[in-house]
Amino acid sequence: MRKKIVAGNWKMNTLPQEGEVLIKEIVESFNTEGVELIVAPPFTHLDGVGKVLKGSDVKMSSQTIAKENFGAYTGEVAAEMVKAFGAEYAIIGHSERRAYYGETNEILNKKTEKALSVGLSPIFCVGENLEERESGSYFDVIKQQIEEGLFNFSETDFSKFILAYEPVWAIGTGKTASPEQAQEIHAFIRSLIEEKYNKNVAESVSILYGGSCKPSNAKELFMQNDIDGGLIGGAALNASDFIAISKSF
Ligand code: PGA
Repeated sequence: MRKKIVAGNWKMNTLPQEGEVLIKEIVESFNTEGVELIVAPPFTHLDGVGKVLKGSDVKMSSQTIAKENFGAYTGEVAAEMVKAFGAEYAIIGHSERRAYYGETNEILNKKTEKALSVGLSPIFCVGENLEERESGSYFDVIKQQIEEGLFNFSETDFSKFILAYEPVWAIGTGKTASPEQAQEIHAFIRSLIEEKYNKNVAESVSILYGGSCKPSNAKELFMQNDIDGGLIGGAALNASDFIAISKSF
C-alpha cells in the first residue's frame, strides 16, 4: 500500500506569528487516519513551526535547499540546517524554482543528493507549462525532468522519494487538470519508474498532484488509481480547507 499524503506549500506567505497561528489550527484539527500531513513553511518559520509540531503527527518540509553544504554561499540554506529544525522532507524542483531561479534538472539532481545525504526525503516536482501542454510535448518534458533529476539514484534511494506532478498552467490559476489528465501523467510517471527500476519500486512511490487542488476537487483527483494525494498551495494557507483536503481520500 502506498502512503497517502497531503502536503501544504506555504510559498512566501505569512509572517512568523501568522504561521504559528496557522500551524496550531492545523495540528489541533488534524485527525485523518492513514494520511500523512506535511507542511512546508518558509525557512524563517521552520524553527517556530517545528516547535509546535514536536510530538504531533504533522511533518515538516522545507520549500527548497541549497545544492551545497556549509560554506561561503550567501543567502543559501543547507539541508542540514533544515533538518536541525526537525524537517523530514524538502520540496525540490517546484516549478517556481525552475522558472524564476534558473534551477535546471542538473541543479535539482544535486539538491536531491544533498537532501538524501542528511536524511531528508525529497518531494520532487515535475510538470509542463502551457505551451508544452498545447504542443503535445509534455510527455517528453516530464520524462526528461525525471530522467535527469532522479534516475541516477539507487533503488533504495528512489524508494525514499515522493513525486509531485504539478502542471504549471494549473498552479495558482484556479484551472485544475481534469482527473483524467492528471491520472494519465501519474500512470506515465509510474511506468517510467517501472521501466528504470521495477514494478515494486513503481508501485510503492507516492505521486501527488498539485495545481489548484482544493476541497471541492480533491476527492475526484484522489480517487484516481495513480494519484496518492496532493501538493497544495493556496488552499494550504487555510487550516479548514487544508484539513478538508486531507479527508478527501
Ligand atoms: P496552488 O499551488 O495549489 O496554489 O495551485 C500548488 C503548488 O504550487 O504547489
